[in-house]
Amino acid sequence: MDEIRVGVVGLGGRGQHWLRMLQKFAGYRVTAICDRQAALLEAAKAALTSPASVKTYARYEDLLADSGVDAVALCVRARNQGALAAQALEAGKHVSSEVPAAHTLEDCWRIVVAAERTGLVYLLGEQTRYWGFVDAWRDLVLQGRLGRVTFAEGQYIGFYGTWWYFSDPETGRFYTVEELKDHPEARPTWLHEMPPIHYLPHELSPMLKILDDRVVEVTAMSTRAPSYSFPEIGQPDIQVALMKTRKDAILRLATGYAQPVPKRGHHWYQVMGTRGCLEWKRSARDLPKMWLADAQMFDVAEVDWRFERLDAPAEARGSGHGDADYYVHASFRDAVLGRQRLEFDVYQAMDTAAPAILAAESIDQGTKLMKVPDFRPSALRPAGQWPASLA
Ligand SMILES: NC(=O)c1ccc[n+]([C@@H]2O[C@H](COP(=O)([O-])OP(=O)(O)OC[C@H]3O[C@@H](n4cnc5c(N)ncnc54)[C@H](O)[C@@H]3O)[C@@H](O)[C@H]2O)c1
Repeated sequence: MDEIRVGVVGLGGRGQHWLRMLQKFAGYRVTAICDRQAALLEAAKAALTSPASVKTYARYEDLLADSGVDAVALCVRARNQGALAAQALEAGKHVSSEVPAAHTLEDCWRIVVAAERTGLVYLLGEQTRYWGFVDAWRDLVLQGRLGRVTFAEGQYIGFYGTWWYFSDPETGRFYTVEELKDHPEARPTWLHEMPPIHYLPHELSPMLKILDDRVVEVTAMSTRAPSYSFPEIGQPDIQVALMKTRKDAILRLATGYAQPVPKRGHHWYQVMGTRGCLEWKRSARDLPKMWLADAQMFDVAEVDWRFERLDAPAEARGSGHGDADYYVHASFRDAVLGRQRLEFDVYQAMDTAAPAILAAESIDQGTKLMKVPDFRPSALRPAGQWPASLA
């Protein structure tokens, strides 16, 4: 096989972006598209470069039954997006899934068990882990330049306007809070229900890559719902999780998508060790910072680390999110075609999802401390079997 026949599922903003990329990405051939919203399916059809060779489906199960599809590119935004990924693996399709991987621990396990039983490739399309500064920070940690890492932070406090919270289920069109009075057909979207802390892949994935670690315990707190900024949004403005890692570092992760913030990067990161620290920039005018105790440095130094990589191939430029979107599709292609093993495997993917899911459960249970399972096979859970607690 030298080409992956891929079906793109979920044709909202993100699915359309993936469709545009995959149609011109070497090693892929788009053979099917699917969305349960007819208007979005039609719009995507109009954007196909070779429409005659692409099947269109309104039902996901019909796409999964298509023998002309080797892999599913899953871009849905739904409570059951983890179950949909597992369903594709169970149907014999490789899966490249948008983030987050899943919204329940059962769905995390279902993906792991299905990937183990089938040997198919599952890649979580978390792209910030490919950013240039992430590799630079990981190298510094691996070389021991920071000493022992004791504390790290990641936050995604972004404000994209309020339009993702309400949409017309017929057309898929989104409406802002201000537009609601003129559009009684608008209904709350899944984002309206999804605890903001579930959206941690872009924090946990790069941080755990830098630390080469996984989370073992989590607890979390939330401001109240509805939002103080927009009472129409039944979501808290801020949720914050504290996590303990296997290597005994403490992580503070924060999310918030409803409250207005200045126009600057939505992500912010920090890593502190016993012999140094690294810090992402605070504003568009700022630069990242580094201090090493053993380098004759009286104060932090500014370092021009960026999202973009200096070694990015030409095809990566402009692919999205500081050129990082390219690496998701290149990694998936190379794994499915047997050219290179996944650097970010199914277990690491679940390491980004489970602590977030359990953070929300901790909030529901009054900031209870939750234990995070290790999804890797062990003597207690051989590969391909469900854990005893869920069997
Ligand atoms: N990696 C990133 O940087 C990034 C950026 C944006 C969004 N995302 C992720 O991408 C995904 C899609 O985001 P979006 O903004 O395009 O969402 P969206 O809500 O605009 O679109 C999702 C589409 O999936 C379709 N869908 C849902 N369930 C389906 C099913 N069972 N069968 C067929 N179609 C189904 C919906 O009809 C909808 O059109 C989300 O998981 C989101 O978290 C990731």
